[in-house]
Amino acid sequence: MLHLSAPTDAGWFERVKHHLPTLLLDHTHLEKRAGSTAMSMIFRYADQATLAKALGEVVQEEMDHFVRMVNVLEERNITLERLEPSGYAASLAKNTRKKDPEALLDKLIVAALIEARSCERFQILAENLKDDEPELAELYAELYKDEARHHTLYTRLAYQIFDRDEVSTRLKELADLEVKALQDAGTEPPRLHSF
Ligand SMILES: [Fe+2]
Ligand SMILES: [Fe+2]
Repeated sequence: MLHLSAPTDAGWFERVKHHLPTLLLDHTHLEKRAGSTAMSMIFRYADQATLAKALGEVVQEEMDHFVRMVNVLEERNITLERLEPSGYAASLAKNTRKKDPEALLDKLIVAALIEARSCERFQILAENLKDDEPELAELYAELYKDEARHHTLYTRLAYQIFDRDEVSTRLKELADLEVKALQDAGTEPPRLHSF
């Protein structure tokens, strides 16, 4: 349902669990970037009401997630500071086409895939943090549902605007590249969007 070409490997949680503060900080910045991605599409496609309405809602929700995460950091005395991105999103962006209408299709699919990966990983966190970090587990259980909805929303927009076969073919191509982008993002300590 998430259109991911490969699931997260079993070792990911084991790798990130010792770096929870970095993971939470990384997650905070990711929510802000997700909002910014949706906002930049609203600006670029300023005359498309369907996109404006759907993406306007995404911006609101991502900024709500962002503020919630800033509060989580505060509660845990984690400083909100800059953190170099893992390179995952940049690597995906490199593979997108730059001229419309193809650029729009690629942007929608890449956003759908990033939402899908976040959703999958939030679900892993929700399941694995239950015993040691019940409050965080609950937060992730709530957030993964929102990210699943964002995934569906971006995918639905792509199918509404573009030819069905074209979307399916490109979705498959970019889903394969998404897995590669994840493997190539070798940030240490590991991140939400890294191996
Ligand atoms: Fe979010
Ligand atoms: Fe999202």
